[in-house]
Amino acid sequence: MKVAIIGASGYAGGELIRLLHCHSSADITYATSRKLAGTPLVNVHPHLKGFTDLKFENPNIDAIDVDVVFLAVPHTAAMTYAGKLVSRGIKVVDLSADYRLQKNIYEKVYGVTHTDYFAAPYGIPEIHRKEIIGAKFVANPGCFPTGATLAAAPLARFARTVIFDSKTGVTGAGDNPSATTHYPNVGDNVGPYKWTSHRHLAEMKQELAYLGSKAKCYFTPHLVPVNRGILTTAHILLDEPMDQTKVERIYQNYYKDEYFVRYQNPSLAAVRGSNFCDVMVESEGERVVAISAIDNLVKGASGQAIQNMNLMCDFNETDGLVNAGMLP
Ligand SMILES: NC(=O)c1ccc[n+]([C@@H]2O[C@H](COP(=O)([O-])OP(=O)(O)OC[C@H]3O[C@@H](n4cnc5c(N)ncnc54)[C@H](OP(=O)(O)O)[C@@H]3O)[C@@H](O)[C@H]2O)c1
Repeated sequence: MKVAIIGASGYAGGELIRLLHCHSSADITYATSRKLAGTPLVNVHPHLKGFTDLKFENPNIDAIDVDVVFLAVPHTAAMTYAGKLVSRGIKVVDLSADYRLQKNIYEKVYGVTHTDYFAAPYGIPEIHRKEIIGAKFVANPGCFPTGATLAAAPLARFARTVIFDSKTGVTGAGDNPSATTHYPNVGDNVGPYKWTSHRHLAEMKQELAYLGSKAKCYFTPHLVPVNRGILTTAHILLDEPMDQTKVERIYQNYYKDEYFVRYQNPSLAAVRGSNFCDVMVESEGERVVAISAIDNLVKGASGQAIQNMNLMCDFNETDGLVNAGMLP
């Protein structure tokens, strides 16, 4: 099966190349970067030397001849490509935010006009698997909403308030340098940003509602000095108190058939480089603390995108994704 990556020079694009190398049927035949067109992929992804001989091309969407396209480009860029590809019968996984939210909410949160909107399944397979199977287009979720939703989902419909507090690694911001990601700001430091206004809050609210929750939802992210990973602490305030035995049973039962969600003490190192989400829960009665850990570039982006492709194309859901984290 021929695969194209639009935006292959970025962090998510690099992860797609690394992971797809282990896929039984996917062969990357087309990879783009406008700035690096004509140069070998390994120039920016030296860890992939020996795994790919491809060179970056300029995106020429009308001429593209593949079965599946991953759009690993910024929001607003994806909407200029998505519809054209789908209308030609090409399956698409969009890693950007362009199709994750309802149109009016997207336009309000991102402050732009959506020029080519259509509704798409939201690609957290553990929650939306039935909609994703066989789909022609999937909106891959944001990294924070993936970890947050998986942390809170089992108790969502029992909650009156959910407060997400996340710590994220620096690759979440993409490979474009900025004052925030400048080493002296990140190294040997921890700091909050967008305390109450991060765009991913809208996805978290949307997912809680999808899960039948009427809970109020809040979110504050923090930048920590690691490259990869998101640790999310969900403070779940319940309508009725639940004891430890009960909440543990609910979580273990909810995820019992999910290969990529493991019930164990979460830490960034244990999931680094892998598609796993580690979750654990502790009750003090009315407040339950659920904590999840994911790798933002894998379960939070490219790994989950491949998981979605597998469901869309009728491959084994774990194809290309069976590798452990990198502890220590
Ligand atoms: N980083 C994460 O943890 C993460 C997690 C979940 C989702 N995502 C989403 O995944 C997407 C990619 O993220 P990233 O972190 O990989 O970003 P990135 O490192 O900044 O890479 C962006 C890529 O898109 C290309 N690009 C930019 N504008 C383009 C356009 N108009 N047309 C075609 N290509 C364009 C860039 O190459 P050229 O400019 O050379 O063409 C580059 O290859 C974003 O939408 C991001 O929000 C990222």
